Amino acid sequence: MLDIYTLDDEVLREDTESVKSFDSSLRMLVDAMFETLTEADGVGLAAPQVGVSRKFFIVDLHEGEKGRYVFVNPEIIETSIEEGPYEEGCLSIPGFYREVMRPLRVKVQAQDVNGKHFTIDASGLLARVIQHENDHLNKTLFIDHLSEEERDRVVKAFRKKNKKKRKKD
Ligand code: NI
Repeated sequence: MLDIYTLDDEVLREDTESVKSFDSSLRMLVDAMFETLTEADGVGLAAPQVGVSRKFFIVDLHEGEKGRYVFVNPEIIETSIEEGPYEEGCLSIPGFYREVMRPLRVKVQAQDVNGKHFTIDASGLLARVIQHENDHLNKTLFIDHLSEEERDRVVKAFRKKNKKKRKKD
């Protein structure tokens, strides 16, 4: 199990580097991230959330386009004009859910864990999770898509909720 960094941890706001070597350490990290994601009962996890400032994320869906996905050095090359709302959460802001508007479909180019290039047309939940996780590689959290007022409200509530916990650290 890996530690998941949260809202006030700086690593979530740091630049990420492209992955250049597709070696066993990358595969081990990806495996550990899938275990962590399963344990946390989430659908997506990006490297910065486990303290690694590199461009990759994983997705594990149990509905819709079911399956496990690894996106290394991803690039969203097309987005639909149509957007829609969806209530998002984030393992880095546990317990908070807000409706976010995003394009309904995306086309993504990426590499798999072995470095093989692929392109995927995603819609539904997969498109949603890809955009959310890809944001993490660009220092962006879902609350950054909210109004400033709503964003501040979540940040304050999160800090209040985690105050006791942080004092113990
Ligand atoms: Ni997230």
